[in-house]
Amino acid sequence: MAPLVRVDSPGQSWAHERVLVRADLNAPLDAGPDGAPRVADDARIRASVATLRHLLDAGAAVAVCSHLGRPKGERVDDLSLAPCAARLSELLGQPVELLADCEGSDVEARIRALAPGEIVMLENLRFHAEEEGNDAAFADRLAAGFTTYVNDAFGAAHRAHASTEAVARRLDSCAGLLLAREVEVLGGLLDAPESPFVAVLGGSKVSDKLPLIENLLDRADRILIGGAMCFTFLKALGDPVGTSLHEDEDAQALALRLLERAAKVNCTIQLPTDILVADRFDADADLKVVPSDGIPDGWMGVDIGPRSAAAYRDVIMAAGTVFWNGPMGAFEIPPFAEGTRAVAEAMAASPAATVAGGGDSGAALGDMGLADRLTWVSTGGGAALELMEGRALPGVAALPTA
Ligand code: 3PG
Repeated sequence: MAPLVRVDSPGQSWAHERVLVRADLNAPLDAGPDGAPRVADDARIRASVATLRHLLDAGAAVAVCSHLGRPKGERVDDLSLAPCAARLSELLGQPVELLADCEGSDVEARIRALAPGEIVMLENLRFHAEEEGNDAAFADRLAAGFTTYVNDAFGAAHRAHASTEAVARRLDSCAGLLLAREVEVLGGLLDAPESPFVAVLGGSKVSDKLPLIENLLDRADRILIGGAMCFTFLKALGDPVGTSLHEDEDAQALALRLLERAAKVNCTIQLPTDILVADRFDADADLKVVPSDGIPDGWMGVDIGPRSAAAYRDVIMAAGTVFWNGPMGAFEIPPFAEGTRAVAEAMAASPAATVAGGGDSGAALGDMGLADRLTWVSTGGGAALELMEGRALPGVAALPTA
């Protein structure tokens, strides 16, 4: 697609503008020492700083808005953006006042009174059901008092919501630096990846990843499969899978069709050759490594085995481009995390352009302290997946291109 008009495009002047910035501040929360919610992982908040800094330094008055969690149109105190406003204030080094709501006459009056270089945060958009309904009147109220709109919320760009879609059509709009970079990097993987282009795909269901695999078959040279979805492939090929999570016969038929299509378009779908199996789904389970065509009765696959992990590492090291989406095993349980760790470490060490989708792979990279060593780790889970499936993202489609 043509490049988006960005917040730093030549000729953009921000002095005296009152700018509504849609960010994705949907950060995981936990309870602080006093029991109050606090930000557990600030990666998304940090990723939003560059655009806000750019606007504030250029003399704009800014109100940043976001959703947090899924309060379903109700005011839920534990899903207030207060912890995010506090963290953003620390990161920006200036006060970020949290307004009591995201729309209404008091909010509009505060917006109109903002000074250049001042920033406030609007309260959780999803306290209003009209946000997810992409409601036109709600979008009018959100836009009230602003002169311009900047969408930097890549993580929410697959949602056609009032703050990501309808409002972009009501104000002069452009893309924030984060959203523009996400679209450029992920879109670049589909348009012109340096070969060999390798995709590493995990997750539990082939049926969930079907559109992604189909879109990658024509582009990737090799697709490495891990996660529970490998058991659907193995079962489809006639191998015993014990009590491993796997899908029904329809999904197995899909898996076979994917293997056939891959052979036709010269893309190799590589399955693990060994599997770590457990006698139960528990950190204290008995474990052993078995060939992938010999999972014993009563045992379940919980990770790819060490031989597969080493083979996947070699492929990742020799690639020109690698895209990774989905863990290789049940990595939230430490003894089952080695395959995912091996892929994360290979991504970090590879000279290839290395890109990870958000969601579980992004979280695994963050936990392992490796995220900074990849070319790009997307801040979007669902959004990155939909973009890589070749689907148009409503939040991006609503923005002007250069
Ligand atoms: C995410 O966490 O992937 C985004 O913030 C979107 O959240 P949602 O799935 O609740 O729309």
